[in-house]
Amino acid sequence: MLALFTLASALAVAAVFSKRSAGSIVAPTAASSINSGSVIPFNYVDLNWCHEGYTPITVYLSETQPTSLNATGGVTEYMASYGPYLIPNYGLAPLSGSQVPPQNLTMPDISAYTSGSALYLSVVETALAGTCPPGNQPAQYQFSTTSLTVA
Ligand SMILES: *[C@@H]1O[C@H](CO)[C@@H](O)[C@H](O)[C@H]1NC(C)=O
Ligand SMILES: *[C@@H]1O[C@H](CO)[C@@H](O)[C@H](O)[C@H]1NC(C)=O
Repeated sequence: MLALFTLASALAVAAVFSKRSAGSIVAPTAASSINSGSVIPFNYVDLNWCHEGYTPITVYLSETQPTSLNATGGVTEYMASYGPYLIPNYGLAPLSGSQVPPQNLTMPDISAYTSGSALYLSVVETALAGTCPPGNQPAQYQFSTTSLTVA
């Protein structure tokens, strides 16, 4: 009973500030303040549910909180996107020709949004086709979202 109550509370809080079914958006933190051209810290810890050497991610900034992804793992309504990036797992060196996630992201022109508006930063994590057990799975996608607040 207590466990159920705690879970329900946790979900209620999660719905307000951030949504997570993939990895963790460590930075920016929920409701971080942004302006046009702000350079904000970025740190995402992948879930890597298929235990791959490298995890592809794409980042989206959107006006509404995404509730689903399209067939190829994209957020359809967004004002800016970043990536794709490839996260090296298990201490592997970055794959040549790939971009590791940057330590910061630059916000686009958001002057159209009034102070106090919420915008949403989502990270889509992909498990490439053929990498999940038993080995012949199609590509899989999960995403995590956090809110940002227009200053
Ligand atoms: C899914 O969304 C992404 C990003 O908006 C887009 O690039 C891609 O073409 C879309 N895929 C489909 C199948 O519509
Ligand atoms: C943003 O991150 C890059 C590396 O990803 C770093 O070279 C640069 O100095 C950072 N800029 C700021 C303003 O933090």
